[in-house]
Amino acid sequence: MSNERIVFEPADLAGCATWQLISPEVFVLCLGAFIAVFVYWSRRPKLNEPPLVPYKYPLIGHTLEYLRDSEGLLKRCHEQYGDMFSLYLFREVYTIASNDLAYEMFRSTNFSFKEGLERMFPLGDIIGSKAYPGNAAVLLKDRFYKHVDDCYSRIYRELQHNIDQLIGDCEEPKLINNFDEISMTIIARAMANLFVGEELCKDDEIVKVFATFATTLIRVRKLSSIAYLIHPRLQTEYIKLVFKYGDNSPQKHKDLLTKKLKPIFEKRYQDMQQFGNEWKRPDDLIQLLLEYSIDMFGKIHYDCIACRMLTLIWASIHTTSANLLNTLNDYAGRSEYWNDLRKEQEVITDGLDFDLTMDRMEKLDSFVKESNRLMGHILMLPHCATCPSFTFSNGYQVPKGRLVLMNNLTYMSNSSLHGDNPETFSGFRHVSKSPFARVGRDSMAFGLGKHACPGRWLASRNIKMAMSILIRKYEISTLDGKRPKYPIKRGISVLGPLPLTFKKRK
Ligand code: HEM
Repeated sequence: MSNERIVFEPADLAGCATWQLISPEVFVLCLGAFIAVFVYWSRRPKLNEPPLVPYKYPLIGHTLEYLRDSEGLLKRCHEQYGDMFSLYLFREVYTIASNDLAYEMFRSTNFSFKEGLERMFPLGDIIGSKAYPGNAAVLLKDRFYKHVDDCYSRIYRELQHNIDQLIGDCEEPKLINNFDEISMTIIARAMANLFVGEELCKDDEIVKVFATFATTLIRVRKLSSIAYLIHPRLQTEYIKLVFKYGDNSPQKHKDLLTKKLKPIFEKRYQDMQQFGNEWKRPDDLIQLLLEYSIDMFGKIHYDCIACRMLTLIWASIHTTSANLLNTLNDYAGRSEYWNDLRKEQEVITDGLDFDLTMDRMEKLDSFVKESNRLMGHILMLPHCATCPSFTFSNGYQVPKGRLVLMNNLTYMSNSSLHGDNPETFSGFRHVSKSPFARVGRDSMAFGLGKHACPGRWLASRNIKMAMSILIRKYEISTLDGKRPKYPIKRGISVLGPLPLTFKKRK
C-alpha cells in the first residue's frame, strides 16, 4: 500500500458533494431543459422593441424610482425617449405609449384591455366567467341601450330617494367625512334598480352584493400589494386563493343571485311563453340576461347569468361612484364654479321633464369631464398584446403578452387636444365641444376604439343626475374651501373622501 496521502482541496469536496446529490437522470433532464430554453430564445424572431430605459439594479429595475416618484420618472423618460419606451417594473417589462402611439393601441384589435386587466386582476378566474362564450360587453352594446332610455326617470327617482335618505335635509350644516361610502351606496342602488328591476332592488341582500363586491375585490388587491412587489403574478395567485377559500367567495354571491332570481325568472319564462307578444316586457337588465341565456343555451343558465351580473357589477359601480366622488370633491373645493353650475340647473330643470333636460346641461357635463381628465393618474389602461408581435407606426415592435400602458401625463398636458394651460383645471373648457360620454382623442376616460366602454352613457348620466340633485339641494364645500391633490400610489391617483359640509340651499 502506498503511503501517499490523498489531499482534497475544499473546492473538490464541495464539487463532489454537489455531484453526489444530483442523479444522472436529473442532470440529463436539466441539461435538456436548458438546451430547449436556449434554442427557444435563440430562434425567437428579433423584434425592434422600444428602448428599455437603462437601470442600475437587476431584478429591481425602475421599481423603486416608480414607487417613489412615478411622475418624475415618466417625465424624465418621455423627455429622453419620446412617445414610446419600456420600463422594468415589478419584475416585468412594461411598454409605455403616449399620444398617437397610445391611440394606435386602443384602435388595434391586436390588443386586449380585458386580458391586460386580467393580468393585473384575475376577475375571470375568480368568478368563473371564462367558462362561457360571449361577454358582458356584447350584451350591453347589442341589447341594453335599445331598452335603457325609458329607465332614466326611474333611476333619477332612485338617486333622489337615496340622497334624501343618506344625506338628509341638512337644515343645520352637516359634516360628512365618508362621501366615498355614500357615493358607492347611491350608485349601487341606482344600478341595482336598472339591473335587477324595481322589485328586487329593494332587497337588502342584493343591494349589499352590488355595493360590496367591487369594494371587496379592490380591498383584497390593496392588501396583496407586498406580493405585487415581489411579482405581479404572485399577487394574482394570492388573490385567486383568497377568493377561493375566503369569506367573500364569488360563489356565495352567485348562489345568492341565483336564489333570488330563480322565482322571478321562472315566472317570466312562463309568462313569455303563455302570452307571447302581448306580455309587457320588463325594462331591466335581468330580462336581457334571461333572453340572452335562452338564445345562447336554449335554457335559463343560472351560473352564466350570475357571472355576467358580477362582471357588470365590477365594471360599473366602483368606476361610476369613484367619478361621482371625484366630481363632488372638485365642486366642493372650487367655489368659483358654483354660481354658473347652479344657474344652469335652475334654468334647465324649471318645469321640464328631467330626461329632456339632461343633454342640455353642457356646463355640468364639461365639469364632470374636466374632473375626470385631471383625476391625476400617471399610467392608465393596461392593454395586452395578443398577436405574435405588433408593429407600431414608428417601427417599434412588442411581443405577444407585453403589457402596454397609456402615459396619462402626456395626455393631460397636451394643449393641442385640450386647449391652453391643459394642466390647470378649467371646468367649462369642454362646453360646446365633445361631451363626456363621447370617446375621442381628447376624451379618453372611457377608452377608445372597438372596446371603448359600453357603459359610458349610463355612467355619465348617473353622475350628472346625482350631481344635479346635489347641486340644487345643498351648499357643499370643503372645510378650507380648497381641493387638495390626491396622493399617487403605483402610478394611480388614490381618490379619497374629503371632509365636506352640506347645508340646505335656501
Ligand atoms: C365613470 C364610469 C366608468 C369609467 C371611467 C369606465 C371606463 C372604462 C374603460 C376605460 C374601459 C376600457 C376601454 C378600452 O379598452 O378602450 C371600459 C370597459 C368596459 N366598461 Fe366601463 N367605465 C365606466 C362605467 C361602466 C359602466 C356603468 C358599465 C356597465 C354598465 C361599464 C362596462 C364596461 C365593460 C363591459 C367594458 C369592457 C368593454 C370591452 O371589453 O369591449 N363601464 N370602461
